[in-house]
Amino acid sequence: MKKYKIAWLPGDGVGVEVLEAARLVLDRISFPAEYLHGDIGWEFWCREGDALPARTVDLLQNVDAALFGAITSKPAKLAHAELLPALQNRGFSYRSPIVRLRQVFDLYICLRPCKAYPGNPLNFRDSIDLTVFRENTEDLYSGVEFYPVPEELSEVLGRCSKPFEPFRHLPGDQYAVSCKINTAAGSERITAAAFEWARQHGRRKVTIVHKANVVRAGDGLFLEKAQQVAARFPEIQMDEANIDAMTMWLLKNPGNYDVLVAPNLYGDIISDLCAQMVGGLGFGCSGNIGSRLGVFEPTHGSAPKYAGLYKVNPIATILAAKMMLEWLGEQEKAQALEGAVAEVIREGAIRTYDMGGSHTTLEMGQAIADKL
Ligand code: IPM
Ligand code: MG
Repeated sequence: MKKYKIAWLPGDGVGVEVLEAARLVLDRISFPAEYLHGDIGWEFWCREGDALPARTVDLLQNVDAALFGAITSKPAKLAHAELLPALQNRGFSYRSPIVRLRQVFDLYICLRPCKAYPGNPLNFRDSIDLTVFRENTEDLYSGVEFYPVPEELSEVLGRCSKPFEPFRHLPGDQYAVSCKINTAAGSERITAAAFEWARQHGRRKVTIVHKANVVRAGDGLFLEKAQQVAARFPEIQMDEANIDAMTMWLLKNPGNYDVLVAPNLYGDIISDLCAQMVGGLGFGCSGNIGSRLGVFEPTHGSAPKYAGLYKVNPIATILAAKMMLEWLGEQEKAQALEGAVAEVIREGAIRTYDMGGSHTTLEMGQAIADKL
C-alpha cells in the first residue's frame, strides 16, 4: 500500500490544537501516512527572521500534500511585539507565510467549499452549498507595493497615466501604491479549474465575480478570459456579477448560486461571507492547490486569545483533511470522513462553544473519530 508523505504544519496559536484533533480522525481511518513536522509561523520570524524557514520550503518540495493549522499575520498584536522594531531594523519585514507558500509553490487554486450540514445551529439557511474558487497567487496579493513611492515610479506613472495627474506632485512618503496584477494565464487557469470542477461534480452554474466596471484593466482581463473559458463548457450556465452586488445577492438568494470564481482579493472576501453562511470560522476549510502540491487548511486564523484553551471548533480543519484525502485520490476515506462530520453535527450531542456547546476541540475530534 502506498504510504503518503504529509507535511504537518501546525503553525501558531490554535493551529496546534485543531491539527491535533484532525490527527485523531486521520489515525482512526488508518490513512497510510508518514507525517513530517514543518516549522512555520511567528515564532520562527522572531527567532530567525523568517516565518517560513528554508528548511520548511525544502520539506514541502518532497511531500505529497500538507496540512496546515494557522499562523498569525498581524504580529503587532502578539507577545514579542516589542521585538518588531528591532527586527525591522535588521531589514526583516513580515509577510504572511501562507501567502508566500501559495506563491512559492504556485498553488494557484484556492478551493473553498461552503456547505450547510443539516443540524448545524449556525446555518444561515439549511440548503446552502456554495463552492468558491479563488485565484491564489496574483491580484492585490502580488506583493508588489511601494511606500514611500520612489521618484522613478512616479515619473513613469505620470508619463503613462492621465488619472495619475492629481498624485503626481505628492512627496513619495505621502502616498502608497499597491499593484493589482492580473495575468491572462492566471485568469484563464483559475476559471478553467472552476469550470472543470463544476463539470466533474455535476454542478449547474459558475458565477464570475469581478469589478470590471471600475477596475477595467485587471478585472476586465479576468472577465474576458473567464468568458472565453466558459464558452468551452456549454452545458454549464455562466453568470457574472460585480463583487459589491454579489455580497448582497448572496445573502438574499444564496440558492441562486453554485460555483463562484474570483480574483484573489474578492475571493478572499466572498469566501468569508460564504463560510459565515454555513457556520463561520469553525466550518470554513480551504485547499491551496497547484499542479504538484496541495496545502490544506482551515480558513480561520491562529486566534491568540484562545490559544492553549482547546476551545475552538476543529471541524474546519477536519474538513480540510477531507479535502486533502479527496485531492490525493482517497475518495472512500474522504467520504467516510465527511459522513462522520455530518453525523456528529446532525446529532448535536457534541458541540463546541461557537455552536452553543461547551465541548473541547479534542472532544469534537474524538466524537468524529468515533463515527468512523
Ligand atoms: C485567507 C486569509 C489569508 C489571506 C491571510 C491570513 C493572509 O484571510 O486565507 O483567507 O488573506 O489570504
Ligand atoms: Mg481570508
